[in-house]
Amino acid sequence: MNDRQPMRILVAGATGNFGKALIPVLHQRGKEVVALVRSGSQSRLQPLDHHITETVVAEITEPDIAASTFRGVHTVISSVGITRQRDGLTYDQVDYGGNLNLLQAAERGGVQRFIYVSVVGADRAVRVPVIQAKRRFEKALIESTLKWQIVRPSGFFTDMTDVWKMALRGTVHIFGDGQSKISPIDPVDLAEATADLLDAEPGQILSIGGPADFTWNEIAELACQVAGKSCTIRHWPKWLLRATLAIMRGISRSTYGTLSFLGHVMTNDTTAPNHGSRNLGAFFRAQQEAEVQ
Ligand SMILES: NC(=O)c1ccc[n+]([C@@H]2O[C@H](COP(=O)([O-])OP(=O)(O)OC[C@H]3O[C@@H](n4cnc5c(N)ncnc54)[C@H](OP(=O)(O)O)[C@@H]3O)[C@@H](O)[C@H]2O)c1
Repeated sequence: MNDRQPMRILVAGATGNFGKALIPVLHQRGKEVVALVRSGSQSRLQPLDHHITETVVAEITEPDIAASTFRGVHTVISSVGITRQRDGLTYDQVDYGGNLNLLQAAERGGVQRFIYVSVVGADRAVRVPVIQAKRRFEKALIESTLKWQIVRPSGFFTDMTDVWKMALRGTVHIFGDGQSKISPIDPVDLAEATADLLDAEPGQILSIGGPADFTWNEIAELACQVAGKSCTIRHWPKWLLRATLAIMRGISRSTYGTLSFLGHVMTNDTTAPNHGSRNLGAFFRAQQEAEVQ
């Protein structure tokens, strides 16, 4: 890359909440965006077409990602991971294995740097499959030949839509006593902080949350207040969570995975240093306006 050429960034996870926030930020900063999508997901990027230089289709859970995918690419930013997908794959196959395939292909393809969007708390060994998979990938990335940066966000605003939907129905269900804290962040604030890393020294881990910490009770109360509902907040005891997890483990791997993560974040503090300006109340108000239209 010479000084006149824009830096070419490959975004993996381009169709997700974070990827869709990141693409315009990179474009506005003069970067060339290569969006990596899996077959069948391309149409989700149509509204962002004007921000994207090239779209490449690849199955990252397969080991042989074509070298041409990385032609001219300086940095890969990956937020690939299972959140709500129900395609029968495990966190080990996607969050770990898929990202590892991508990393190894990027090494072969001459990429210089790999930025990975992990999750807050990935430094701790916990019995939560998605966190275990991300922790394993973080280790592989740190041991790779590429320059690396790791972003460990607290919960995204977009994940608070579950609380919003419960608030609209008048009852919000929470595991534990609702006193555990989280620092919800808008994906756009996260995207801007991630794009800032392109100008930062490699080898850094950025733990990052939104502008304020909330308990889960406070999030529920805020959602109910914006929804104009006098809600019931129902607390499910930890023993019931543990019993449900023990049963689900043998019945449905994907439900177990989702529930173990949700139970973990609702019963443990998952705050991260505060950052950004977009606030959760405004996010809930935007949800409400979208309901009205
Ligand atoms: N949401 C949160 O609160 C939160 C908090 C902390 C960390 N994180 C982590 O941040 C990352 C991004 O979150 P997000 O909310 O943007 O997630 P998301 O909206 O579910 O996006 C996930 C992305 O990964 C891709 N993906 C999933 N399975 C795949 C597979 N088998 N092969 C190829 N691509 C696959 C999806 O592609 P398709 O569109 O094709 O499915 C999508 O582009 C995730 O790894 C998540 O664990 C999220």
